[in-house]
This record gives sequence, structure tokens and C-alpha cells, in this order.
Amino acid sequence: MEKLEKLYEGKAKKLYATDDPDVLWVEYMNQATAGNGEKKAQIEGKGALNNRITAVVFDLLRARGVDSHFVRRISETEQLVRKMNMYPLEIIMRNTAAGSFAKRYGVEEGTELNKPILEFCLKSDELGDPFINEDGIVALGLADEDEVAEISRQARAVNAALTDIFARIDVRLVDFKIEEGRTSDGAILLADEITPDTCRLWDLKDRSGRIEHLDKDLFRRDLGNIIPAYEEIHDRLTALAKAE
Ligand code: C5P
Repeated sequence: MEKLEKLYEGKAKKLYATDDPDVLWVEYMNQATAGNGEKKAQIEGKGALNNRITAVVFDLLRARGVDSHFVRRISETEQLVRKMNMYPLEIIMRNTAAGSFAKRYGVEEGTELNKPILEFCLKSDELGDPFINEDGIVALGLADEDEVAEISRQARAVNAALTDIFARIDVRLVDFKIEEGRTSDGAILLADEITPDTCRLWDLKDRSGRIEHLDKDLFRRDLGNIIPAYEEIHDRLTALAKAE
């Protein structure tokens, strides 16, 4: 596989074309951002950890019947994925109140929700990723009714499988963001990444009574170094993948 021209540079990843029109070359960067890019830092080792973590998560999901764009990891910081036509949506699933949800509705962070909540945001840095509902998505032509139904079904399936995966490594899956796209042959598939950058992960091994964050909230909230937390997630997931 040959790496060709750069197609896109996001906040945490660069995407390159390859000599296969259906495959992209992804490079995970060390850059960490928060607050829509207002806070920025280079964190040595983050790119390699996220590249490894998302690869293991996609493998564990596939073993549970949840397919994705992931092809294979090719180096410490790079992986190959299927080329997708992305929906401009951030698809958020919540199991426990936290972050913007807790703030918006005035509920204490950590409050269990009676059912998982699916939310959509329009992916737009200029607009600050505003909230959008199913009607808005269809009305703006971002996806049709059937596509929204399939994206929603997949988001709930990812949540069920991911909750199980993290429960097995003593981690509470509080909430997460995914992205979805369509392949050249029209299949709707899970894409982007699933890492501690995009999930809230609380350590269930911690008995202090405090929330032990194993995710990017450490960076967002200046709570500490993310690397030992990301390493912990990586090591526990890798042990689970070996055991399965
Ligand atoms: O900030 P908020 O509470 O809405 O985030 C919900 C979940 O979505 C968190 O797990 C967060 O990591 C993720 N997220 C993300 N990228 C964004 C916004 C949220 O990965 N741009």
C-alpha cells in the first residue's frame, strides 16, 4: 500500500489517499485540543496510544458483530481505514449524566440515566457543533429518514457492545461520540475513532468515592496527565482482547 497526497488535517488526525481508491491512510497526532480548539497542547505518546486503542476497540466491536471502517494498524501512529463519505454529524450516546448534558439540564455529574440518550450535533467548528435533531438532519439534507434510522440503530448497537467491553475491564462508559459514513457501495458504517479522546471513561476499580477519569477530561479540566490514564485503558483493553 502506498501513501499518497494529504486529503485532510483535523485536530488529532491526518488523512492521506493511498493507491487503493477505497482505502485511506490515517496518522494519529500528539495534538490535544479542547473547547473547540481554544485549548491546545502537544502530548508526547498520545497519537500512538490512540492509534492502538481505537484499533483494539474496533477489533473487539467486530467480534461482537459491530462493523466499522477499520482495516488494520500499520505502524505505531498509523492505520488503514475504508474510505467513507462522512455524515457531518457528531453522534453522541450517553449512559450517565456528565459534561454538557449535566450542565444543560442542571443535573449532578454521575447521575444514572433511566435510558441511554442519543444526541446529534452538526459537525462545524465555525458554529461550535450545534445540537440538531432527526428532523433537522433530514430537513437540511444531511441524511434521509432511512439513513438517520440506520445511524441511530448502529449508535445504540455500538453503545451496547462498548458498554459490555468496558464493563469487562472495570471501566464505566459514561458517554461517547462516534461518526458514521457511507462506503462507495452505499453501506453505512461506523468510522472515525473510539478512544479516551472521544469517550468518558470512569475507573470502577477506584474505591476512593471520587470520579477517577481515564479520558480527555483530565486535559479539558486540568486534572492531570492523560498519558498514564490512556496507558491504563490501552493495557486493560489489550489484556481483554488477548483473553477473548
Ligand atoms: O461535551 P459533551 O458532554 O457533550 O461530550 C459528550 C461525549 O462526546 C464525551 O465523551 C466527549 O468526549 C465526546 N465528544 C467528542 N468530540 C466532541 C464533543 C464531544 O468526542 N467534539
